[in-house]
Amino acid sequence: MPSITPVAAVRAFRALLLLAAVAAAVAAAPAPAAACARPLKIAAFKEFTAFVLDGAQAAGVPMEEVTWVKNADEAHQYLETGERDVVFMSYDDTLSITLGDGFNGTAIVWPVHGGMLSLCGEVDPAANKTTVGIDTTTGYARALRYHLSSSLSPDEYEALDWVKAGATNIRFQALLNGSLDATLLNPPFNILAEAQGLACTPMADVLGPYQGVVAHVTQDFLADPANVACLQALADASAAVVAGLRSDPTAAVDALTAFYNTTSDTASAIYDALWQPNGLASGLCFNASQLAGTEAIFAWDTKLEVPAKRPWVQDIFC
Ligand SMILES: *[C@@H]1O[C@H](CO)[C@@H](O)[C@H](O)[C@H]1NC(C)=O
Ligand SMILES: *[C@@H]1O[C@H](CO)[C@@H](O)[C@H](O)[C@H]1NC(C)=O
Ligand SMILES: *[C@@H]1O[C@H](CO)[C@@H](O)[C@H](O)[C@H]1NC(C)=O
Ligand SMILES: *[C@@H]1O[C@H](CO)[C@@H](O)[C@H](O)[C@H]1NC(C)=O
Ligand SMILES: *[C@@H]1O[C@H](CO)[C@@H](O)[C@H](O)[C@H]1NC(C)=O
Repeated sequence: MPSITPVAAVRAFRALLLLAAVAAAVAAAPAPAAACARPLKIAAFKEFTAFVLDGAQAAGVPMEEVTWVKNADEAHQYLETGERDVVFMSYDDTLSITLGDGFNGTAIVWPVHGGMLSLCGEVDPAANKTTVGIDTTTGYARALRYHLSSSLSPDEYEALDWVKAGATNIRFQALLNGSLDATLLNPPFNILAEAQGLACTPMADVLGPYQGVVAHVTQDFLADPANVACLQALADASAAVVAGLRSDPTAAVDALTAFYNTTSDTASAIYDALWQPNGLASGLCFNASQLAGTEAIFAWDTKLEVPAKRPWVQDIFC
């Protein structure tokens, strides 16, 4: 488990965020923090989204302490009950709650990344390596079923033991301690797994364009302009964090080294993984082919049709 922000780490990281804050201030008028009076309540998975949110907070976006979800069911609940204002989870989760659960109050407002998924560990039914970790049956689990159902024989696929092992950071620990044979991980966890000698295979070629984590709010939340002002502050600061990472690799690798308390080699590998196909989104606009890719896998798995019109896509900051 990478530990977050000892004092020196915070200092190095803040240096990068100063750049991000400047970029955000230039990009957004009025200045984000000034426009947002009420701290945002946020829930997210503790994967790379955590780095972006930490940067946004350091840049002055008012937010309460972020809730790190244990699994997707918890994330779904926070959105549907309105207990959190903004929930970061995958686009498959958007489709699952909207088309599966019939919750049609969802709005997705900007993309964070394309999953950045790698399959780590080993699936080998002949060697009794069949324990595959997923979070819930929705989300990235569909992408993994899509991959393994075509790469294994029907008998081998039937032999798999699918274990609900929680969110990415928890599956990472379970993979390392041997309670899972394989699971999908994304940065920093796939890179940290590789640093521990585990094999990870990037999934971008298998999945094609794919939309991973996106920012979710409810349509009710968007109806209040004061909420939209806070959301805009978060969107602009998040985009500035990503732009800051992209534009200054040296400072970025320093910040990642400190944030994840790791070596600069590992931090460099994390950095490189962010810009792969299906990597970090470079702006606040959704990519239609990535949305369509996730929709195709959702439809394949659920047999539910995804309507061509997507009322849940509200790319108001694009
Ligand atoms: C979905 O939207 C329709 C109108 O567009 C509304 O009548 C219905 O109550 C909504 N259902 C849920 C579960 O929110
Ligand atoms: C296969 O693996 C499972 C779980 O890892 C273990 O319980 C079982 O004993 C193994 N079977 C053989 C034949 O090694
Ligand atoms: C392995 O890690 C998982 C996730 O932290 C934990 O739930 C499980 O108890 C651990 N198992 C062992 C054998 O240490
Ligand atoms: C959308 O994603 C596809 C596939 O990853 C990529 O080829 C394309 O350039 C992207 N479009 C834009 C506008 O970024
Ligand atoms: C950072 O990592 C080093 C080496 O693994 C370890 O000794 C140290 O305790 C870690 N620091 C924190 C704050 O976790």
